[in-house]
Amino acid sequence: TTHRIAVIPGDGIGKEVVPAGVSALQATADRFGLSLEFDEFDFASADYWQKHGTMLPSDWEQTLRQYDAIFFGAVGWPSVVPDHVSLWGSLLQFRRTFDQYVNLRPCRLMPGVTSPLAGREPGDIDFLVVRENTEGEYSSVGGRIFEGTPRETVLQETVMTRVGVDRVLRFAFEQAARRPKKHLTSATKSNGISISMPYWDERVAEMGSKFPDVRLDKFHIDALAAQFVLHPEWFDVVVASNLFGDILSDLGPACTGTLGIAPSANIDPSREAPSLFEPVHGSAPDIAGQGIANPIGQIWCGSMMLDHLGHPEAAAHLLGAIEAVLAHGPAGAPLTPDLHGTGTTAELGHAITECVRER
Ligand code: NAI
Ligand code: MG
Repeated sequence: TTHRIAVIPGDGIGKEVVPAGVSALQATADRFGLSLEFDEFDFASADYWQKHGTMLPSDWEQTLRQYDAIFFGAVGWPSVVPDHVSLWGSLLQFRRTFDQYVNLRPCRLMPGVTSPLAGREPGDIDFLVVRENTEGEYSSVGGRIFEGTPRETVLQETVMTRVGVDRVLRFAFEQAARRPKKHLTSATKSNGISISMPYWDERVAEMGSKFPDVRLDKFHIDALAAQFVLHPEWFDVVVASNLFGDILSDLGPACTGTLGIAPSANIDPSREAPSLFEPVHGSAPDIAGQGIANPIGQIWCGSMMLDHLGHPEAAAHLLGAIEAVLAHGPAGAPLTPDLHGTGTTAELGHAITECVRER
């Protein structure tokens, strides 16, 4: 079968790293006899905004629904369009309309990359943050009354539905069950948030009874944040509500070195709609146009996409190529400046693509 991929480079370095990602994907597909078909779109970008006054064409949903996955660069160019307009006008539309209810961020300390945490070696840090991506604390239920008076009052509710909580928990347990350590950690705060978080804990325990092989524990979010920094080696899969997961999924990659290599996926596990694969970083206006952006975050996203499309061996091969090139260090591979090398985006992308072919 042919997998159809919608490619959306977006803005800034998105346009530089996406071609490197596509080349690496193509090489991996060739190696494993897979057929990938790429169609590129210019929307979800400041250029598109300047031409059309909107971030997306009116038929974007129909267009993108025809694809098996979306390979996304980065959106945002604040000197042309305000960030809340570009983000809400594109990426957040994709996540919500396509019900991409899992946000997945692997956190792995790669060979050749220095962790900001002292004394950590590759292998010490290798966990997966599973964030609920559609409800929870990020609801629009609430309001403001007595505005501008001393009685001014604001209220914003957390929304947890049984369907919404259970589906992300099931996904997290399944991920944990697939991994060698089979360990799932749940982020909670049921001591302080006395209605929604005990409910979350209850659903975790209930789902846990269906996965007897998975070792389950839970931490209050404050303690968990501290343990991410103090003992990142304790974790395997970490599942969290929307807000807690948002925080953990920035903290996790920060513990593993440069932003330039961190990938993420917005997934609809039901596969009714396409899932979206994007690096954690943004458009990086400070280095855009220089050809020195690290393409590894984007290429790693390609590996996650292959896994999602049902090709775990191809996904592992591509990730292995990234690790092999990183392991050569700045003296042996054209690593980009954020990895203390002097390589370019194209050179580093090419080295990984060659490694995919030769390994
Ligand atoms: P950013 O991630 O674009 O850049 C932060 C810093 O990291 C910069 O110094 C940049 O040079 C560096 N950096 C980022 N990616 C890199 C790479 N691949 N290689 C080497 N260095 C890299 O975040 P910033 O500057 O806060 O945002 C810039 C724009 O990107 C804004 O418009 C923002 O809204 C947007 N953005 C979009 C995201 C998305 O599309 N999901 C995510 C984050 C930001
Ligand atoms: Mg965040």
